[in-house]
Amino acid sequence: MTNNLINRLTADLAAADRNGTYKKLKTIEGPIGDRIRLKDIGEVTLLSSNDYLGFANHPVVVEAARDALLRYGASTASVRFICGTQDVHQTLETDLARFHGTEEALTYSSCWAANTGLFAAICGAGDVILSDELNHASLIDGIRATTKDVVRGVYKHSDMADLEAKLQKHIDAPSRLIVTDGVFSMEGDIAPLDKIVALAEKYDALVVLDDSHGLGVMGETGHGTAEHFGVMDQIDIFTGTLGKALGAGTGGFVAGPIAITETLIQKSRPHLFSNALPASVAAAGSKSIELLEADPKRVQALQRKAAGFRARLKALGLNPLEGDSAVVPVIVGETATAIQLAEEMLNKGIFVTGFGFPVVPEGQARLRFQISASHSAAELEEAASALSNLLLKSSAA
Ligand SMILES: Cc1ncc(COP(=O)(O)O)c(C=O)c1O
Repeated sequence: MTNNLINRLTADLAAADRNGTYKKLKTIEGPIGDRIRLKDIGEVTLLSSNDYLGFANHPVVVEAARDALLRYGASTASVRFICGTQDVHQTLETDLARFHGTEEALTYSSCWAANTGLFAAICGAGDVILSDELNHASLIDGIRATTKDVVRGVYKHSDMADLEAKLQKHIDAPSRLIVTDGVFSMEGDIAPLDKIVALAEKYDALVVLDDSHGLGVMGETGHGTAEHFGVMDQIDIFTGTLGKALGAGTGGFVAGPIAITETLIQKSRPHLFSNALPASVAAAGSKSIELLEADPKRVQALQRKAAGFRARLKALGLNPLEGDSAVVPVIVGETATAIQLAEEMLNKGIFVTGFGFPVVPEGQARLRFQISASHSAAELEEAASALSNLLLKSSAA
């Protein structure tokens, strides 16, 4: 093939490879867990997964998925509004609404789909959307998908003075939405939801919270970042994923007032034009929620492990970013350094991912550790001391 576009892409890929920024997919042979088997490498400790509660391969969750697979088949082969809604989808939506304390919930094939399908469906002329500058890419794309007469603004990361100034500026708009991640996935810090809901009340705004990394992780019973701040009932719209702490594999949702979920059923493009979740995934999601509700001690164990890991890194002289979540980033500088360090950690049997530009700002490349309730103390200690040894070695060189 000698097409210009293909030639350009091939040259770009070769340049990325030379710069050490080329992302290579690693193949896992077997299930996700605290230990996994990587093709051509062998067994390693996994600190790169969102399987915060160890539900991804929990026997009870897997059994629920298998039973639903046998009972409902592999797929609906349809979108929800045509003939893709089975009772198992409705059960999951009832569970998600109860969990969040909202009137309703609506599932999508992913949280990416939920976030990209939300804003264009509900916002109209003159409405104002104010979004944290570090929000997840799916929120950014979802907001971009609104019509031109919707006003879009970005406030500085967790900067309440900036948010308030922007709310004030748009006080005469028909409606205002404040949109934020709960846990910011690259920083591991959390949105100041107590202050955000106070501003929302003062300026009559709705709060949209994507708590994909907070659900099952934050709050005493794992209800997320809003529980952490005691403001569950002041969040108007929750979005989230079934594919992280809930371990169902894939799937996302919007939970909120019936007027929102019913509007989404009428108008939201990923809902109208994309297939329903497989029943097996819906059943796994419901089972994970049941497990989480029955045993919040698992969440508390996760929180202790994440805090202990942060403290251990600090005791070793390293500087993890501050935060209360299970995402623990350590800034290492350039993108190629992060990728190189991740490679060296892997050689020591620890799978942690290096993130660089453009996912994070230039010069702030990092290793991002993600802690799970299923990690043992020995695994976490091994990871912390491996990183410390590598960094000491490179600073001595
Ligand atoms: C904050 C946030 N929102 C949405 C998503 C997308 O979730 P899903 O994998 O369900 O599409 C992610 C996943 O990385 C995320 O971190």
